[in-house]
Amino acid sequence: MTEAEFVVVANRLPVDRDDDGGWRSSPGGLVAALEPVMRKADGAWVGWPGKADLEIAPFDFDGMRLVPIMLTADDVELYYEGFSNDTIWPLYHDVISAPRYRRAWWDAYIDVNSRFARAAADVAAPGATVWVQDYQLQLVPQMLRELRPDLTIGYFHHIPFPAYGLYSQLPWRKQVLEGLLGADVIGFQRVADAGNFARAVRRQLHLETKASGIRVPQPDGTVRVSLAKAFPISIDADVYIELAQRPEIRERARQIRAELGHPRRILLGVDRLDYTKGIRHRLKAFGELLDDGTVTVTDVTLVQVASPSRERVDAYMQLRDEIELRVGRINGDYDTTGHTAVRYLHQAYPREEMVALYLAADVMLVTALRDGMNLVAKEYVASRVDNRGVLVLSEFAGAADELGSALRINPHDIDGLKQAIVQAIEMPPAEQGRRMRSMRRRVREHDVEKWSREFLRALEKTRAERSKW
Ligand code: F6P
Repeated sequence: MTEAEFVVVANRLPVDRDDDGGWRSSPGGLVAALEPVMRKADGAWVGWPGKADLEIAPFDFDGMRLVPIMLTADDVELYYEGFSNDTIWPLYHDVISAPRYRRAWWDAYIDVNSRFARAAADVAAPGATVWVQDYQLQLVPQMLRELRPDLTIGYFHHIPFPAYGLYSQLPWRKQVLEGLLGADVIGFQRVADAGNFARAVRRQLHLETKASGIRVPQPDGTVRVSLAKAFPISIDADVYIELAQRPEIRERARQIRAELGHPRRILLGVDRLDYTKGIRHRLKAFGELLDDGTVTVTDVTLVQVASPSRERVDAYMQLRDEIELRVGRINGDYDTTGHTAVRYLHQAYPREEMVALYLAADVMLVTALRDGMNLVAKEYVASRVDNRGVLVLSEFAGAADELGSALRINPHDIDGLKQAIVQAIEMPPAEQGRRMRSMRRRVREHDVEKWSREFLRALEKTRAERSKW
């Protein structure tokens, strides 16, 4: 196999195998963010093709070298659905749902992480740079360092890193920290996440931290410095700007408004169907606004795109039932033959349709209870080339650190959320423009290219410093 100078290692490949044996884009913000970076880098991407028991040889796809990792049905159940998405995911999102600590899941996590590490070690050229992604692969940096000390290793954590009091619940808290510290640079979304990580390292491993540096003793008695720092991720803003200017997409936005019966205001939520996203809180607030007569069904419609996600994990099944029950109740109480209160879409859409929805929506609701970044907020802002529209944004989403001109809310405060929705619905165009322009400037200046450039520059710097030792 040809060796690569630059290797991305992520749980998923950028494409998933579909039922007809073809390939389709994988879900989630991680793939959306890394794909443009990879296309330019001409490297290899190690990841899972999204279905159990698929053994596929490495292949070239759309200018990228893809190296598929086979996961058995047991691996999917124990490593992906179990440890990744029923232990780490809820724990790292402030235990919104109770994490389950199962020893068999942990064993599978070690095993699968070591297979990813071996595959990356096999494909990386001497002295190559390897960039490991996200919480499913926290042990890979150290495993890879043991296999290939010549590599420069980065790790980016796409989700929150929890406060120490929560993190310390994890029975394998030391091993996970040691796994991550195998990286030369450990990137986080928010300054607070990097701070939580450094605190956990000090408390659990008794290592010394200074500014962003962590002194990591090596088996040979030397000390290596790992950098733990915030690098807020972003989107390819130009892609959204270009799509938002296409006449057919603008026409589609008009058509969406017409299909919804020309309500005065359209509210929009776009999320994976995940309990971290605060969809229940959003529906509660909107339902109460209808109940108390502040809005009417002919006046305001909420479009909720909730794309299917992790459908075999109990907490996700329960969430789906709850959301669908609540949507059914609201619609049953308020729909007319010509208007719907909530247009609920349990589907995933291509980017073109998403941009049309963003253009059609007067108000974007991002009510996450905890979210690493929330790229949907940035996509909405980038798409509003007309400087219109209002973003209602949870302070618990990473994007809140950057998008200061959004209407900031605490999703747990239902009255506050209702007030923000009313304020957004009634906001004069001049104020919309002022807020939107300032957010657009930020998203354009801090796009995904800048994110990867800054991360990789920090990584390059550690390589230069290492060679001086
Ligand atoms: O950003 C968090 C994340 O888990 C990514 O790693 C992933 O791409 C996305 O959400 C979608 O989740 P999943 O891969 O479990 O469908």
